[in-house]
Amino acid sequence: MKKVLSLILAAALILCFAACSQQPATETPDANATVIKMGTNAAFPPYEFKEGEAFKGIDVDIATEIAKELGAKLEVVDMEFDSIITSVQQGEVDFGMAGMTVTDERKLEVNFTSSYATGVQVVIVPEDSDIKDLDGLEGKKIGTQLGTTGDIYSKDDYGEENVVSYSKGADAIIALKGGDVDAVIIDNEPAKAFVAQNEGLKILETEYAIEDYAIAVKKENTELLDKINAALEKLTADGTIDKIIANYISAE
Ligand code: ARG
Repeated sequence: MKKVLSLILAAALILCFAACSQQPATETPDANATVIKMGTNAAFPPYEFKEGEAFKGIDVDIATEIAKELGAKLEVVDMEFDSIITSVQQGEVDFGMAGMTVTDERKLEVNFTSSYATGVQVVIVPEDSDIKDLDGLEGKKIGTQLGTTGDIYSKDDYGEENVVSYSKGADAIIALKGGDVDAVIIDNEPAKAFVAQNEGLKILETEYAIEDYAIAVKKENTELLDKINAALEKLTADGTIDKIIANYISAE
């Protein structure tokens, strides 16, 4: 009897060994996944910002979903806003995503995917400012973030000598609070975030420019452009993009 039992046990062990040593049929482990690099400027809440060492925001979340669609792992590369397009052109990053406005000038340098969001250039002033509208900006000192549309347009409209360009939007806000500039021109959602974080500032009712945000891809890399567009289409259709945006921006 004992012998039979131990035989059964041995057989069971062998069976188990065979079954258990079989590799589970999982997908490619993460370490082997292709990495796709996103160039951004993570000082632009709620689109991209840092929380400790982690990158967060609408663009980061959308890019994470796009990477998943492409079977790749997202790597965020933080840089000056002004360097993103060059970095895309030189292939240091695979795409640029930074609440970046589609403009004719930029279209000469990179390709843009379909647009995933709308941006509005607005004017931030101190609550007690005598600047009431866009005309009130004439002859005033305007703070901007270097290389942004707000920076480029205001230099055109109000004169280069009247515009002070900062490396970060937040630095322009500090300058505004310190009285170094009279107004800051920046995109509406970061504007709201900055005004919420800083007392005594307000956003003018008049909108300066209405724009489309899209992802910048190297001219030659039309394959990636098509893939990202297909992913954007899917993520729009299934509601993922709306859900991500709603996570960061409450509907008014
Ligand atoms: N929408 C503006 C532009 O394209 C500003 C974007 C700034 N983005 C950023 N992540 N700092 O010029």
